[in-house]
Formats: sequence, structure tokens, C-alpha cells
Amino acid sequence: MAAAATPETEIHSLREELRHHEHLYYVEDAPAISDAEYDARMNRLKALEAEHPELLTPDSPTQRVGGKPKDGFLKTPHSRPMLSLDNAYNDVELRAWDERIRTALPSTETVRYVCELKLDGLSLALHYAVGPKGSAQLERGVTRGDGTIGEDVTSNVRTIRSIPLSISAEKLKAAQLPQSFEVRGEVLLPQAAFLKMNEERVAQGLAPAVNPRNAAAGTIRTLEPNIVAQRRLDLYAYFLLQDGATLLPSHTLTLAALRTAGFRVNTHASTVNSINEVIDFIAVADALRDTLPYEIDGVVIKLDSTAQQRRLGFTGKAPRWAIAYKFPARGAVTELLGVAFQTGRTGKITPVAQLAPVFIGGTTVTRATLHNPDEIARLGVKIGDFVQVERGGDVIPKIVSVVVNATHPRGMTEIVFPDSCPRCESALVREEGEVDLRCVNASCPARLEEELRHFASRKVMNIEGLGEVLIAQLLGHTVSGAEASSVAEEEAAALAPSGISPEEKEETEAQLPTRAALVHSVADIYSITKEQLLTLERIGEKTADSILAEIERSKAASLNRVLLGLGIRHVGERTAQALAEEFGSMDALIAASEEELTRVNDIGPKVAATVRDFFTNEKNLALVERLRAAGLNFTAEKRVRGTVLEGLTFVLTGTLPTLTRDTAKEKIESAGGKVSGSISKKTNYLVAGEEAGSKLDKATALNVPILDEAGLLELLESGPSQ
Ligand code: IVH
Repeated sequence: MAAAATPETEIHSLREELRHHEHLYYVEDAPAISDAEYDARMNRLKALEAEHPELLTPDSPTQRVGGKPKDGFLKTPHSRPMLSLDNAYNDVELRAWDERIRTALPSTETVRYVCELKLDGLSLALHYAVGPKGSAQLERGVTRGDGTIGEDVTSNVRTIRSIPLSISAEKLKAAQLPQSFEVRGEVLLPQAAFLKMNEERVAQGLAPAVNPRNAAAGTIRTLEPNIVAQRRLDLYAYFLLQDGATLLPSHTLTLAALRTAGFRVNTHASTVNSINEVIDFIAVADALRDTLPYEIDGVVIKLDSTAQQRRLGFTGKAPRWAIAYKFPARGAVTELLGVAFQTGRTGKITPVAQLAPVFIGGTTVTRATLHNPDEIARLGVKIGDFVQVERGGDVIPKIVSVVVNATHPRGMTEIVFPDSCPRCESALVREEGEVDLRCVNASCPARLEEELRHFASRKVMNIEGLGEVLIAQLLGHTVSGAEASSVAEEEAAALAPSGISPEEKEETEAQLPTRAALVHSVADIYSITKEQLLTLERIGEKTADSILAEIERSKAASLNRVLLGLGIRHVGERTAQALAEEFGSMDALIAASEEELTRVNDIGPKVAATVRDFFTNEKNLALVERLRAAGLNFTAEKRVRGTVLEGLTFVLTGTLPTLTRDTAKEKIESAGGKVSGSISKKTNYLVAGEEAGSKLDKATALNVPILDEAGLLELLESGPSQ
């Protein structure tokens, strides 16, 4: 045998062996050789490859850590959107979901569900393509991004040991997989790795990551594959697609095929026949929660049959065929040490509780929001009190009550709201009918800082690299070395729940401008020059170029994002989208009367008035003009609506025989009608299905005409008879 081994065959067998042991170690959690034995084989392979560079292939186990992504991450569209899930918080909601599924499917069909843990990480798409000798090779790893377009983080994904770089023809055959396909799953940072990472961050003078999910999100977007490799991310696979469509006839088969192909599939998954069994699984998962080496925040329930999934389809951002059962928030008791006051983007002053550090569900909590003066009064909380703090998933921790008993005496110090802005010292104002105190100084530095952050954020103009640190620099603040350590670290910090910012922000806020600001409004972002960027600390040619490229790219952002970026009060994502679709251009929106605005679905008189006010203010119009001059996108595809139901308002109640509530709503709206949540004299029709409740009584009392599903369909077809 000794004589027969050529370098080529030895390299080949070492690779096979290393892959096998990596699989045992990282996927099966069942190592068969010692670390030293593994290292010895790896070193031998490295040496052979160094001697014979012509034999090196990208799927070799030595090639997990490769080159750095040179120009940041490329944006890549997904084969089919990466959706999120609707949530259920109790058995009642879960049973209602089960009912909806059963109603939507023919009663003769069997309904089976797959229960999985809801891993608290972030989803990732892995693309495999035809490799040599009938194998499949990892080609690309893409983050979820905004669900439609993600970022190509392949260089980092390759470092995750539970992700196979290549899958042999034999394995593909065993799993009955083609050579090219897409796997989706959850990347997470195990608890131990999270704690280690935070220890290191603190030792380096950096703010600790808020929770393992943010740490994982920051890590996967780090520009140093070396760092990613050290952090030990893990991936659990749960979807298998080809050209955007589910490949196999059931989810149970999908999980089995993924496992056979060598992916890590969570072992706590179970196929069940009834919602009662789902509820049993949830109880088991809840009991398991504290023993797992990673965080989970609930259970995901998926309809097993792919054909049934297809028939149920999607609503907005989530599939109808799956749901997330969220565990209740976890809480703890701790002491309220003090209250800090922060000025937000709209000038709102938020009281932030400073807490004695307390460990809740994997995270050390030191701050919590107290919302507003009314909330403080409602809680009756004083400094020195012991309080019950809760945090659920990615929600900002909040104080739910004051705890008073023998071991927890009352605090003595009243919380006094300031009467001037903690940042610019102008007098605070409380508008009529509002609970919040506001700084109304339009040039308050805290407000500008928050406006810029909002404008550049992922959900708005998505200008990567224009994060907390760069904004502080653009505003002329000095930034300490540790804070500015790398754009990626900054991104990780920016992923922390907003409102309660990481330590870094406090530091930044406390700093006074030490040099002239380069920006005074969001429009100034578009006139930043390379020369200006180069004067900032830690910004070299490359970084400057990529920031400018990102700014340039943001000009193409859709009108709804631009509207969101303007920071009009009460205008969130949904409203911005509705306004863009309805009016089709910035100019049409500026010209819209309050009445026209109110006609838009989901827009009430309050929002209509603020939008109108916004566009009558000269300063705001000047800002809009500057953004236009910068070349931002001011037009959108206008929604074409039918007119059959124009001017008619509908209310839906009960379960309809074939239409889901969302479909009925969509149909009414696309025919020009409006759907409202409650019956009034203005309601034109109540559409009632089975088990209609009080709305039916009210409609009868108010003489509102009542339709069943057939009646609605007829109306959609031919309009109201005059
Ligand atoms: S399925 C369209 N399965 O939860 C289906 N998601 O709240 C969505 N998640 O974005 C993905 N564990 O990041 C699925 N076993 C699991 C999951 C899971 C965690 C995450 C995922 C998703 C989010 C939705």
C-alpha cells in the first residue's frame, strides 16, 4: 500500500477523512478522533497542498478561511422571498390558526404538522451548484437582508464548520438530491461562544453585544473571515429549494434529506397529527429551553405537505402554512438605580431606567425603557425600588411592575422629569393630548443624530457603513479608537434594539463637537465628498470609496423608503408604502389634500393631518427639494384599483367558507373599497361568516346590510345595484 500512495490519492483520502470527522464533530456532536489526531491530518494535508498547489481545490477542508471580501458584501436577490412568520402567543391563537388551515383545505384531507424549535438566530440561504464528479459545491451564502435582497456573505459562511463545502455524489444519491439546490436555515451563536465573545469585547474596551442573535448577525457580516472562524457560528438547516420552489413533497422528507446530505438538522423536531400534539411539543420545548446550549424563543409549526402549503400560500410577509409560537417573556427582579433621559429623532424625551445588572434569558440587562411620564406615574416607581423587568426575544426590556415585600423595600427618590432638553437645553413642550415631552428645537444635535441614523438605517435608505460611528464623525464628534474599531463591529452595535442604545451611544452623546460638522441635515449626506471623508479618522481611500458608492446606490431606493426617511410623525413602513402606492409620486403626495389623504386605506384623520402639516412646512419642502436635486427616486408604481366598490366601507366578521379574511380584504381593496375594523353608521356592508359575534348584532341594530361570501363575490362582480 505504501508504494501506491501518490500525492493525489493521499490528498484525496485525507480530505475525505477530514470531512468525515468534521461531520461527526460539528454535525453529529459525536467526534471519533482526538483534536490532536484531527490537527495532524489537517497539517499533513496543508503540507501536501503547499507542495502541490495544482491539486488545491476550493472545497478542500483547508480552504474554509479564504480571502477577505474586498469591497464589502454584494447585494443578491433571493430566489423566492425569505419571509418571516406570524406569531401565536397562546393555545387559543394556535387553535384558531389550526382551524383556519383546516377550513382552507378540503375536509377529506389529512393535516400533519412538523414542530421545530424556534432558534434565536438569523436565517441564511446557501446555494449549491454542480461540482466535479457528480458532487454539489457550496457556491454562495446569502443573508436574509430585507427578505427580497440579501448580502453575499460566502467568505464567512465557508468558515461555519457545520456547513458542508461540498457534498459527494454518493451522499446526494442517498438523499435523492440533485447537484444544484438551495438550503435555508438558521445561523446562531451558541451561548458559550456568545459569552466568550463578549468577554473579549469587554477586554478590548468594546460594548458587549446585547444578545446572541445580534452577536451572530454582527459576526456573519464581519469583513474578517478569520474572526468569523474563531467565533464558532453554527447552522441548522430547515428548507430545501430548487429554483425557489420546495423540492420534496413534505417537510418531514425535507428534514430527513437534509440530514442524509450532511447538514445539521435540529434533533428536536417532530411530525404530529393534531394541534393537541403540537401543544404537547411546546410544553416539552419549554421545559428543554434552559438546558439547550443555544437560545430559543419559541416553536415553529409548519404544515407538512408541500402541496397543501402551496394551496395556502402567503399573506403579506408570512406564509399561511406556518406559525411561530412565542414563549412568554422572561423576567427578573432588580433594583432601579437611576433614570437617564434621552432625546430621540422626533424630539421625544424617553426616560431610560438604569438597572442593577441582571441576567435575563441569556442577556445581561442594565437598562429598560420607561416610555413616558404617564408610564412612570402608572407604575408608581421611584429610584431605589425593586422592579420586575421583562424581555421577550428582540423586544427592548421593560419594567412591568414595582416589587414590594420584606426583602424588597421601597425606594425613596422621586423621578423628576427635566424641563429642558438634556442635550440642547431648550425648554421641553408637552402638546395637548400627548403624553410625551418633546424638544422642539429643530436643530437640536440629538435629533439630527437620530434623524441621520434613521435615514441611513437598513429599513430606510439602507446606506451601509453610515452607522453610529461615522455619523458621530460627520457631526464633528471625536470618536475613540475602540469605538471605531471596524465598520462591522459598529454594524453589530447598530443591530442592538434601538431606543435603548449600547454603551457606545452614551459615550458619543456625552461628547461635544470638537470640529466642524460636515452634515447639518439628511440632504447633506448626498454632498459629502471623498476629500471630506478622508479627513476623518480611520477612513482610508477604500472605505471612503465604498461609503460613497453606498450613498450613490441609495439614490435608487424606492419612494416609500424616501418617505419613511423624511421622518414624518406617525408615518411608519406600512403608511409610507400605502402613500407611495396611492399617489405614485412625491409631487402628487405634496399636492394631496387632507381629504384625499384620508381616503387612503389605513390612513386616519390624525395621520392625514400630520402628513399635510409636514408638506406645508417650508423647511420640510426645502429638504424635499434638496433630495430631489440629489437625484433620489421620487416616483413609484401607482396601485391600479378597480372602482366597482369605490366609496364603500366594509367590515368583516366570522369565518367565510372559502375566502380567508386577508383574501377578502385584498379583493375588496383592489376593487376600490375600504375595510374597517368596527361597525358604525358609515359602514356600507357587513360581510359575515360562521360564528360572527357582536358585530353582527351591531350591524343589525344599525340597519347595515349584511352579506355572506356569495353576496360579497357577487358585489365584486357586478357592483352595488343602484
Ligand atoms: S422557517 C417562511 N424555522 O424565525 C418561514 N424559521 O420569525 C420562515 N427561525 O426569519 C422560516 N427557527 O430566522 C423557520 N425552525 C425554524 C426557525 C425559524 C428560527 C427564524 C427565522 C425566521 C424567523 C421568523
